[in-house]
Order: sequence, then C-alpha cells, then structure tokens
Amino acid sequence: SVVILDFGSQFTRLITRRLRELGAYSVILPGTASLERIQQENPQGIVLSGGPSSVYDANAPRPAPGVLDLPVPILGVCYGMQFLAHEAGGDVRRAGKREYGKADLTRYGGQLFGGIQGEFVAWMSHSDSVTQLPRGYEVVAETEDTPVAAIENPVTRRYGVQFHPEVVHTPKGGQLLANFLDICGVSRDWNAEHIIDELIADVQAQVGDGRVLLAISGGVDSSTLGLLLARAIGDRLTAVFIDHGLLRLGEREQVEAALRPLGVNLVTVDARAEFLGALRGVSDPEQKRKIIGREFIRAFEREARKYGPFDFLAQGTLYPDVIESAGGLSADKSGAANIKSHHNVGGLPEDLAFQLVEPFRTLFKDEVREIARLLGLPDQIRMRHPFPGPGLAIRCLGEVTEEKLAILKRVDDIFISGLREFGLYDGCSQALAILTPIQSVGVMGDERTYSYTAALRAVTTDDFMTAEWARLPYDFLATMSNRIVNHVHEINRVVYDITGKPPATIEWE
Ligand code: XMP
Repeated sequence: SVVILDFGSQFTRLITRRLRELGAYSVILPGTASLERIQQENPQGIVLSGGPSSVYDANAPRPAPGVLDLPVPILGVCYGMQFLAHEAGGDVRRAGKREYGKADLTRYGGQLFGGIQGEFVAWMSHSDSVTQLPRGYEVVAETEDTPVAAIENPVTRRYGVQFHPEVVHTPKGGQLLANFLDICGVSRDWNAEHIIDELIADVQAQVGDGRVLLAISGGVDSSTLGLLLARAIGDRLTAVFIDHGLLRLGEREQVEAALRPLGVNLVTVDARAEFLGALRGVSDPEQKRKIIGREFIRAFEREARKYGPFDFLAQGTLYPDVIESAGGLSADKSGAANIKSHHNVGGLPEDLAFQLVEPFRTLFKDEVREIARLLGLPDQIRMRHPFPGPGLAIRCLGEVTEEKLAILKRVDDIFISGLREFGLYDGCSQALAILTPIQSVGVMGDERTYSYTAALRAVTTDDFMTAEWARLPYDFLATMSNRIVNHVHEINRVVYDITGKPPATIEWE
C-alpha cells in the first residue's frame, strides 16, 4: 500500500483517490501518526500531503521520528516537498509573490516525469518556495515564477513537487503519480473485482455462522451492501426496508425489484401510518427530524425482534466517515451538524447489542458504485442522487399530511423523470421538489385559481458542504413548469431556486 500522511490540505483525499484509481491501495493517516501505526499498513511508498503550514511555523506538523528514514520512496506535495527539502538541509523562503492557479512547466525531466511529453500544466497554490536545494537533490521542473517546481534525489528515492498533481487542473498529474507508484513497486491490483473477493472473504471470516441484520434505505450504499452480504452469507442476512411513507413515488417497488431477484432476503415494512401519525400537527423541521429518527428506531427494533435474534448489524459506513486525518473527523460529519441534525436511515441506537459489520469502511463512494455495477445493481439506484433520511417530510414545508405528500410525490416524479428524459440528471449532484405553503392567485382556462406554489431545486457540488444552483436550460424548466401545472391541479405556480449554498442550504428545511 501507499500511506498518505495528511498535513491538512483540502486535496489529501484526492491523492488517495487518484492512487486507488491507478490500482494502488492507499490510506490516509494523520501527518503526525506514529512510526508503528504507519508500519501497520506495510507501506511501499509514502506521500506527504500539502497543508496550510509553513515549515517555519512553531507548531508546524511533522512526521514522527524515523518516518523519513523508512527505506521506501517518499513523495512530498507542496508543504510536503518543502518539509522534505528543509529536513534534508535545504532552504525554504516566503516567495516574493504567492503563486496560485495554473502554470506551465518551462522545463521538466527526471524519474517522476518519465515518459511524459508535451506541455505540462501544473496547478499551484503556495507562498513558500524551496530556494536552496539540499545535498543530493536536483531540480527536475521549473515554471516562470517558481525555479524549483519539482525536486528529486534518485539515490534516496525522495521526490517533491511544488504543484498539486492530484487535481484535475494538472491534467498529466495522473501520469506523474503512476510513475511514483512504479518507483515504489506497488502492485496495481486494487480494482472492483479484487475488492469484492476480498470483502466477501472478510465478511465470511467475521460473521462465521452468525446472522446479520441490515437496514436498507434505498440508496446506493445500503443496497450495494445488501447485494454483497447476500453473496457472502446468503439467507443469514435479513435486510429490512422501512417504508415510512416519505419516499418518492414507486421507490419501495423499485428497491424490491432490484434486490429480491439478486438473492437479497428483503423484508419491507409498511410503517406509513405510524410515521404520519407521529408527525401530525408538527411543523418545526428539527422536531420532524427527531420524530422520524425515533420512529425509525422503534420500527427497526420491532422488526429485529420479529426476525431475530441477530449477532451482527451491518452498516454502509464509508471511508470519508472514518478517515483519521489532520482535521479529525471528516467535515461532512462535523461541519453541518449544528445547522441541521442529520438523521440518517440507519442511524441506530448505541445500546443495540450487536457487533458491527462495516465492509465499506475503507471505500470511497465511487468505489462502492463500481462494486454495485459488478454486483448487478440497476443504474437507477446505482447512480441515484442522495436522498435524505427524513425523505419528503423535510420537503413538505410545515406540517406533513398525506394530501400534501401525495401532491409533492407527483411534482417530484415529474421533475426527476424529466431530468432523466432530457439527459440532465447525471449532470446535477442533487435535485428536489419542494411543496411550499404559499398559495397564490392564478388563472386556468377562464377560472381563477388559488393554489399552492411548488419549488424546484437542482444543485451541483463535490461535497454537499457548498453548492451552486444548477444552470438548467430555460426550455427544460418551461417544460417542467407546464407539465407540473397541467398534471398536478393543486399547483398553479412553479418557481426555480437560484440560491447557492451558502447562504441557503440544499434542502429547504
Ligand atoms: P443541506 O440541506 O444541509 O443538505 O444543505 C446537505 C445534504 O444533506 C442532506 N440532508 C440530510 N440527509 N438526513 C439525511 O440523511 C437529514 O436530516 C438531512 N438533511 C439534509 C441533503 O439532502 C443534502 O444532500
């Protein structure tokens, strides 16, 4: 494997993903991880990530003693390169000007750039620069503003790049990282088939003859996990899908049709009456989330008793949720927590006496999607936008009633089907319809109407922490508006949300 030591760059995860895409298993550890922790991973190479620090900061993060002496190749990126150079006796200075953005390498060569030809556009973001080389190193790339853009010491196999090879703005960065992997001699067999075989063997070893319970949300992670577990342990898996009545049109049937034929022992539970009953009269968004969370646990525990006993609880936890990185827990978990109390279907009580099975703990979402493809999950689910645990309840503004849900489901279905029909679905990260409590005056035929306003929202984002509203074509929006007011008579006005996040959130509640 390759160990990536994280010094706080926002791109650290991208390095891991790029290396995995190149077929090399790689893990992120905190920059200050102990030598023993790093050696547990049997690293064949180490990458020192970028980060916001300067090597001269009093509390600049540094690798543990002995790490830089490991007899494996080391690649320093940005801060990582400055650190390598500084430690080896070179000099690092605050550059006259901060270099930010794309830069052409005016010259490049050496092992890292082996086989690369033509122009090399490198993405830079730094204010410190290496100004004097340590002994044994040579400069292997430069730009107009940065005379030391890449360095290497072929004897000790220490390498450094001032730019970021992991971002898309460095188009040939992948080739450079592949060269580093070759230098490390890492086997390049990290691919979906290989992962599936390994995961199945791991699950079988962990579970033995035990029985496993899994909550299916209808999303890609839990559905894929259901397929994987069915392969690994067959009927000793019970997958429970709770229909809380807050799902999209036809969603329950879609999940059943996708999973049952592939051997998943799937129990679907109709809990619509309980959830809607508990939500009656409640209009505060946080209160709605709490109630849905509570009802979910109740229903799930009831089913667990009915079909139990179980020894294990399976969860679709992904790598970004557990990365031990410089910033502690990943931002998705901590950052938004104060704004909305995220309830996930599958967010289960801590006192359940199960051992956890979490086969996806080392995987990124795109790896799960690839596994899903090989396991036969239909693209409709495999490539689905995320859908919140509380479902349509937080898109039905104010009190949730059966009538309002019925309206919203039809609006949502027209919008989502329309996006697919016009080939726009995959270009959005998430799309949703919202039923607002606003009533306004309209005219239909010769008649005055006084009906509800539906809002459509589509966003593009990488991490859902910030988002841009999707620039959907006007003609498409016009078609959607027409279809909605023609087919859903309770709606006489359709608006499109043109607010980014921040200041708005993606959901309206
Ligand atoms: P916001 O609205 O905070 O949403 O910009 C960011 C992402 O989180 C999803 N979301 C939720 N997911 N339970 C969930 O499982 C929730 O309570 C919840 N609230 C928001 C939202 O759909 C978006 O993808």
